[in-house]
Amino acid sequence: MTEGNQAMGDQTGPDGELGLLEGLMTTRAMRRLTDEPVSDEDLWTCLRAAVQAPSGGNIQPYQFLVVRDPDLRLALAGIYRRGWARYEPAIAPTEFPNDKVREGWERNNRATVHLAENLEHAPVHVLVLMPSIDMTVHDDEGPMPVGPTHASVYPAVQNLILAARSLGLGTTITTLHRIYEDEVRDLLGIPERYEVLALMPLGHPTGKWGVAPRYRGAEKITSWDRFGEKRTP
Ligand SMILES: Cc1cc2nc3c(=O)[nH]c(=O)nc-3n(C[C@H](O)[C@H](O)[C@H](O)COP(=O)(O)O)c2cc1C
Repeated sequence: MTEGNQAMGDQTGPDGELGLLEGLMTTRAMRRLTDEPVSDEDLWTCLRAAVQAPSGGNIQPYQFLVVRDPDLRLALAGIYRRGWARYEPAIAPTEFPNDKVREGWERNNRATVHLAENLEHAPVHVLVLMPSIDMTVHDDEGPMPVGPTHASVYPAVQNLILAARSLGLGTTITTLHRIYEDEVRDLLGIPERYEVLALMPLGHPTGKWGVAPRYRGAEKITSWDRFGEKRTP
């Protein structure tokens, strides 16, 4: 059992259902998916959970586009792969602080490569669209910058991920298609005013759920009362 598992305690309910905390602590990027279809019912559950997330002023500045058509998935995968082929070599680290970090990176990278090579086989691609609107409110004193519109989208994305998890479905946020975002809009008839924030392959995972490695733990990045004042749990 990992430290993370111990920290969250036993969250499994009396009937063996997954507790909320256990579910979210063990949700990780699932990039190896089978081609087994996802039911409409499960998809609607994920989408309904997504819209229950908070958004600034409750305006919900997002839409979803569910892609199941195999030809469209293949075309999306082609766009993604071209983005990935450029991006991967540009970010590949040449050095690691230690073996543990290197092994973690290599494991993650194998899954990333797998997804790039097999994206079209994920039975569903959920695209997250955000209208390019500026939510900044102004008054006589000027603009009141309370955060970008994206901040009102990602809670919905995470809700979708967690709802999927509760149904045994895996997914991950991906963004490499954005390198060729115009092509994605053209392919799917998405009006230009929408950004295609994320492409989420959704399906039945082949891997196991578990606590993902985090190299910056809560105690390392949390200050108490004054910035820089750290505590040990
Ligand atoms: C904004 C954002 C963009 C991401 N883009 C990609 C992507 O294009 N391709 C991919 O395979 N994973 C992508 N990921 C997934 C992360 O790489 C993944 O969450 C991270 O490696 C940690 O893995 P874990 O969630 O299993 O702990 C993205 C995640 C976020 C939050």
